[in-house]
Amino acid sequence: MQQQGAVALPPVARPGRGPSLTTTKPRRSCISAALPRLCRCGRRHFIGSSSATAFLPLLALPAPAASPVDPEVMLERVHPSRPEWYEKFYATAMDKFMKPYEAEIAEYKSKLFSQLVAAGKNILELGVGTGPNLKYYANADGVNIVGVDPNKHMEEYARAAAVSAGLPSSNFTFRRGVCEALPAEDNSMDAVVGTLVLCSVSDIEMALREIKRVLKPGGLYIFIEHVAAPDGSFLRFVQGAFNPLQQFVSDGCHLTRETGEIIREAGFSSLDLNTTCLSSAFILSPHVYGVACK
Ligand SMILES: C[S@@+](CC[C@H](N)C(=O)[O-])C[C@H]1O[C@@H](n2cnc3c(N)ncnc32)[C@H](O)[C@@H]1O
Repeated sequence: MQQQGAVALPPVARPGRGPSLTTTKPRRSCISAALPRLCRCGRRHFIGSSSATAFLPLLALPAPAASPVDPEVMLERVHPSRPEWYEKFYATAMDKFMKPYEAEIAEYKSKLFSQLVAAGKNILELGVGTGPNLKYYANADGVNIVGVDPNKHMEEYARAAAVSAGLPSSNFTFRRGVCEALPAEDNSMDAVVGTLVLCSVSDIEMALREIKRVLKPGGLYIFIEHVAAPDGSFLRFVQGAFNPLQQFVSDGCHLTRETGEIIREAGFSSLDLNTTCLSSAFILSPHVYGVACK
């Protein structure tokens, strides 16, 4: 399963023991302090620059407040409803075409998600989609899972996945929302899980701040994300060429984000971050996966 250049799957990670990766280098939010340059989130920022915002006040997003923005307002701002047919199509496509990928990633997910058993009962999943991860919670007894996703058509798939995973329906709640303003209280979650989501958010740094906000101290952030291939590689060239099309057809998914580096700089107290390549992921390679601890 593992490919050249990939590192071994970690033994069950001990987040508290990982290297401390707090950074002193300030990073600027993609939305709030964007300059007209290509950022590591994979976008060129013109709309966020001050001269542009003077002319495009309706398109510009405000600087992130210290306190969270209303989740409903943020949902409409960063992910207004797409045409009905598109949201349905995307949900159906995710349900139908991800099976080979899910089979290949299963071993990674089993090991990562096994850490939830000790984490606690309150789990929030970012961009829960059709719910391919819900079966991994079944071992964690009595968990309450809040699945957040802006696409309302994901709900029926996610609910069906929860039922077939044997999760009591009262233990799974679907909330329409976005990572940039999570519908959860400060310090309320034992774990936040996100797989293939930070590629799609509008503001990755805002999303990471929200993850840290809702996690309890010591809470775990478990992630699997596809990231940009190494600079100069053929794959990176292909990703750059297909990036606009990918964003268009796959609901804003970026192929060239350096998500691992951005997680590294997000100020978690510890981080276990690994890299791998999966044959079924094609240009959504390589992947980073691991656990961060608030
Ligand atoms: C590639 S799918 C992954 C779904 C699921 N996590 C999985 O592993 O199959 C990306 C998901 O993120 C959702 N999404 C897009 N923008 C989002 C945002 N700003 N916040 C939260 N979820 C978002 C999409 O609706 C979609 O369900």
